This record gives sequence, structure tokens and C-alpha cells, in this order.
Amino acid sequence: MLEIGFARPELPRSGGLVLMIGEEESSSGIWQQADKATGGAIGRAFKVAEFTGKKGQSATILAPGAGLSRVVAVGVGKAAERTRLATEEAGGTAAAMLGREEEAALAADALAPELAAAAAHGAVLRSYRFDRYRTREKPDEKPRFRKLSVLSAEPAKARAAHEPMRALAEGVFLTRDLVSEPPNVLCPAELAERCTPLDRLGLKVEVFGPKELRKLGFGALLGVAQGSANEPRMVVLQWHGATGGRRKKKPVAFIGKGVTFDTGGISIKPAAGMEDMKWDMAGAGTVIGLMSALAARKARTDAVGLVGLVENMPSGRAQRPGDVVKTASGQTVEVINTDAEGRLVLADVLWYCQDRFEPQCMIDLATLTGAIIVGLGHEHAGLFSNDDALAERLRKAGQESGELVWRMPLAEAYDKQLRSEIADMKNVTGRPGSSITAAQFLQRFVNGKPWVHLDIAGTAWATKDAALVPKGASAFGVRLLDRLVADNFEE
Ligand code: BES
Ligand code: MN
Ligand code: ZN
Repeated sequence: MLEIGFARPELPRSGGLVLMIGEEESSSGIWQQADKATGGAIGRAFKVAEFTGKKGQSATILAPGAGLSRVVAVGVGKAAERTRLATEEAGGTAAAMLGREEEAALAADALAPELAAAAAHGAVLRSYRFDRYRTREKPDEKPRFRKLSVLSAEPAKARAAHEPMRALAEGVFLTRDLVSEPPNVLCPAELAERCTPLDRLGLKVEVFGPKELRKLGFGALLGVAQGSANEPRMVVLQWHGATGGRRKKKPVAFIGKGVTFDTGGISIKPAAGMEDMKWDMAGAGTVIGLMSALAARKARTDAVGLVGLVENMPSGRAQRPGDVVKTASGQTVEVINTDAEGRLVLADVLWYCQDRFEPQCMIDLATLTGAIIVGLGHEHAGLFSNDDALAERLRKAGQESGELVWRMPLAEAYDKQLRSEIADMKNVTGRPGSSITAAQFLQRFVNGKPWVHLDIAGTAWATKDAALVPKGASAFGVRLLDRLVADNFEE
């Protein structure tokens, strides 16, 4: 992870320098000093590059003099636009432009300490790279950027503000690592094993194997798992951070779909693009990264995270279209399509969660339907909820974190389509509204509890670089739900 230091504003004489330039003024003393020290090279370069400090603008000046190897300027627009998120994004953009430097300083002398920290946080988030399996890369092919020093008038305050952000970034990176891992490595047992060391953060970690899951009556989850040589797991993570852990409160619950590979099972998927289905565990990966972040920053809240981990494979033992399974709730399901497996896994985990923890609310994350990508593309996750207030809180957290959600409807008429001739329900409907009917299916297992379902099939994997998210596993939901907790569920 990118190393972040904090220091008083003093013009660096080597390496890179990041200037965050607003549209109307530049009160940054560093930028004036740097311009002077380089004989006006920076100001001249801005003119030529037509750089005015508009939000989204950026410019690189190579070898401006005074020992600096490059100056990176990022436009941060008008003062009113300078939110925490916008500042994070400016920091992220700068980090991407610094790839060839080893060290750089960021002139945050004109920013409040919280925003100085936010700029650094953005740089950290953008600098992520998964290179575990690149064994032949030459040093000059690897990004060199290693350390960013934030120059702030109040370095101690900025450092303190950055501490919880660093904990959050570690959670985001854990999620990105898990989602990036290839499916031969990250089977359900391995994913569960990666959770156990999180007890060092003060999380209580429980792992359930097939025997325990059978005892709990998880017939739907086990039906999905039965075609695979890799055994299923469920992991329960508990964080007691409210009232210093002395008195237990009704927790906020997060539930994740963890299909470590989704072939579709007997209702097998087409070959093209099937490799993408390694990230069908992104919901679980997000819950794990989120719980790690909450614990690492010692969030003053009680939270539980539950993940259902299976591999969906075709085999001589695989579940068939037409099978009827019994869920932990007692309700039976006719499995029409074995590729609609995520809802079967979540049905058991959701039921278990509300039954055991009596949570104040439940939020599930799942790469549940291709149809949500058709509807919302890659810009918003689909949000479904039986609770308007909770849905609104998530919308706000989305605006603040930049991880956007868009509410979709639920209604009786969709629910009716789940009717089966032989069981209490079937697991698929026709194609119309199929993200909605998938959510209706889940709702049958929340027992009336306040609940949100986030369909993250379109947002879990970034197909292009963005300010805070390099191409690849996005960890969508970690920052969103951390913000939700910080704004609504902390003492
Ligand atoms: N994991 C998929 C959904 C998915 C598709 C995620 C594409 C990301 C990209 C899910 O298990 C699935 O297969 N859903 C089916 C449901 C259908 C059988 C009702 C789908 O979306 O086609
Ligand atoms: Mn599927
Ligand atoms: Zn799936």
C-alpha cells in the first residue's frame, strides 16, 4: 500500500510535486514558491496547457527545475465544489499521473486537514494493483510510486483524520484482492480461511462447514454446492464496537453472495466471458472487507457480516432443473434454472441471519442478475428495499462516497410470478423484470425485517480506470456501507 507521510509545508527539492489548483485563486504558498524556484516554469506551462484549475482538468510538467522531476497539477474547481469526495478523486487522479515517480509531495497547505487526508486517501485507493501472479515483470514495467508526503499547515490533524481512512483502504484492498484471485485458488474453503486471521482486529470469526450447514437445514445453499468437489462454507463475522463492546446492541447485518465460481451448473452458461464468473463472490468479498474496515477503525457500532460460500458446477452429483429443495426457513423451492443460484444461497443465509441476530436491519450484496447491467449499466448498483428510510440513507451514502445506487421497485405483482406448481415457489420467472423478481425471491426470506438488497453485478468489476478505482475489482460497497455506518449507525 502507498505509504503516506504528513509534514509541514516546505517546498520539496526532488521527486514529484502535486498541486491542487482551484479556479478562482491559489492560496497555496507551495505553488507560489515552486513557481518562483523554477523561474516561472510552472505558471508558463499552465498557460501553454490551458490549465485553469477547472474540476477534472490535469496537467503534467516534466523537469520544471529546482530539482523537481515533475509537477502534477489537478484542477479542483470552485471552492463550493470541493467536497471530500471531489478531493479524494483529485488525489486519485494525481496518483495515477505519478506512476513513474518513487516519491512525491502533495501541496495541501490551502486545504483543511480533513481534506488533506482525503486527497491522500484518494491517492492510496487509486494506487492499488493486483500483481501476485505476474512473475516476469521487469522493475521498469512496474509502477514505482511508493510514498506520498502530504504538506499541511496542520500535519498532526491531517494524520489523525487519515487514520480511519487508512483502515478503510485496507478493507477495500482486502476485497479487491479476494475478488481478483483466480477461482482455482479461491474456493469456498480458501475464502473462509482468509477470514480467520481477521480475529487480530477484534472480529469474532466463525466458520461453518457442510456438516453444520446440514444441521441448520440449509437445503438451498447445499443444493447449489452439491455439484462441486469443493465444499461449501458459511462465515459469520461479528464486531462489537458499540459502548466499547460492553453492552450488546441489535446489530446492523451485512450479507454477501459468495459464489467462488458460477458455471451456471447444469443450466450451464455459454463459454464466452465465463471467466468473469470468478467475481461472483464479490458480495461476500465486500462484506469481508467492510467488516475488516469497521473493526480496524474501531467503529462505535455493532455489526455482523455473513457470507454464503459455494461453487456452482455441473457434475454427476449436481442439482437438476426440477429439483425441489427445502430452505432453512422451511419454505420449499423448485429449482427451474440452476444458474439462478445466488438467490438460493442468500435465502438460507438471510433467514439464518434474522433468526439468530435479530438485526435492526439487513443489507445484502450480490452479483445477482445480468439484467441489472442491462437496466443500470455500470454506474449505479440496483437497490431494492422494504424500508423507505433505510433506502434513503443508502442513497445519501452513495452520493457522499461516489458509490451510487438507484432504487428499483418491489411489488406484489412481481412476487406472484414466483408461484410454482409443485413447491412454495420457483427460483426463476420469465426475463421481464428479472432483477426485480430475483429481489422478490430474497424478500421471502427476510421475515419482514428492514432490508436492502444491492444488486452489484454491474459495479463489482471496473472495465476502465476511474479516479479512485483502477480497472479490475472495484470493491463497490465497502466505501458506501462504511459511510452508511459512519453517518447512521455509530454512537
Ligand atoms: N452470477 C450471475 C449474474 C451475473 C451475470 C453477474 C453477469 C455478473 C455478470 C447469476 O448467478 C446468474 O446467473 N443470473 C442469471 C439469472 C437467470 C438464470 C434468471 C442471469 O442473470 O442470467
Ligand atoms: Mn448464476
Ligand atoms: Zn451467480
